[in-house]
Amino acid sequence: MKEIKVDLKDKSYKIYVGCKLEDIGSRLKEYKPGRKILVVTNPIVEKIYLEPVVKSLQEADWDVYTAIVPDGEEYKSQAEISKLYSVCIEKKLDRKSTILALGGGVIGDLAGFLAATIFRGVSFIQVPTTLLAQVDASIGGKVGINHPRGKNLIGAFYQPKAVFIDLNVLKTLPQRELKIGLAETIKYGVIWDKDLFFYLEENMQKIKDLDWVCLEHIIQQADAIKAIVVQKDEQEKDLRRILNYGHTAGHVIETMMDYKGYKHGEAVAVGMIIANRIAQKLGMLNSQDTQRIKKLIERAGLPTQVAEKLALDEFMNILKLDKKVEEGKVNFVLPVRIGEVVVRNDVPEDMVREIIKDVCKCN
Ligand SMILES: NC(=O)c1ccc[n+]([C@@H]2O[C@H](COP(=O)([O-])OP(=O)(O)OC[C@H]3O[C@@H](n4cnc5c(N)ncnc54)[C@H](O)[C@@H]3O)[C@@H](O)[C@H]2O)c1
Repeated sequence: MKEIKVDLKDKSYKIYVGCKLEDIGSRLKEYKPGRKILVVTNPIVEKIYLEPVVKSLQEADWDVYTAIVPDGEEYKSQAEISKLYSVCIEKKLDRKSTILALGGGVIGDLAGFLAATIFRGVSFIQVPTTLLAQVDASIGGKVGINHPRGKNLIGAFYQPKAVFIDLNVLKTLPQRELKIGLAETIKYGVIWDKDLFFYLEENMQKIKDLDWVCLEHIIQQADAIKAIVVQKDEQEKDLRRILNYGHTAGHVIETMMDYKGYKHGEAVAVGMIIANRIAQKLGMLNSQDTQRIKKLIERAGLPTQVAEKLALDEFMNILKLDKKVEEGKVNFVLPVRIGEVVVRNDVPEDMVREIIKDVCKCN
């Protein structure tokens, strides 16, 4: 097991990569403000993984409660958070209670927002069960819910007390979800670490075949990068914005498809292609690197185009509503080369329209 520290002074915490679900109870001893713990999960994860987690917590003398949220991005919603508030109040949780997220990014974001807001904030533990959540969503403290007008529009920065990553849970993860996690992993390679990018190029097939050594390596590398970036800029005022590579256009695609067409990582994959095309057009990224990134995205089994037609004007309107817009200017994270990106808010709108029209088959 490897421990990675996210150093945020009094909000510091550790990511335990390679621990076992069965050990969570005993490992949580040092993070126990009170006895009550609410495990938030969904029906799919509940069936496979809730029992060992609950057992280990009970053995460590916790009073365990569970809340099961239906599966899907559409449940990262105001309606579900209201129901969860009611559960906390009905079960008489209090300010010393703990919320544990057992699931993918949807559960992590939702349960984290619950922890951030109920009783003005209670302890929060992340147990991510998708690759995307293990390499990205569970780290860094961004928690939140969607609004019908846009993704993640309601939220907070609220750090967990610890993140426990059991690689074995990836055995049951559908291939599509594994690929989605790979999109975020490729992102780290492009924005920060060319060696990670080359490693992914060399080992893509092994990773897709769940080679544990390769998986552990990429998760550790990704988590270490995220930890560094979050340490330097917890509240996304500057450096942390680079983590949004592929997300500017990606979020619009997700919103336009009503969170049902492409999943997050798939939309981000197309968003990365859009960012690369913009960077290439601006003379920043050479065509060799543009093609190399596209090839790796394809080899991961991710889309590089939107299959259905999207309305261009609507796309541009939603783009301007995104959280990444500041004073009316859209921020794009654009690669200069593999391993380095810059944030630009001066991309000409005509250029954005032309590239989106092409990649998203807009009309
Ligand atoms: N907070 C952040 O920093 C951050 C970063 C990236 C993404 N996100 C958010 O994360 C969400 C996407 O997360 P996701 O991709 O993990 O999706 P998800 O949470 O919907 O999980 C994907 C699917 O996998 C299932 N699942 C989870 N673990 C499983 C397992 N071990 N075995 C079998 N099935 C399993 C889930 O039930 C679900 O059907 C989005 O809402 C996105 O906005 C947040």
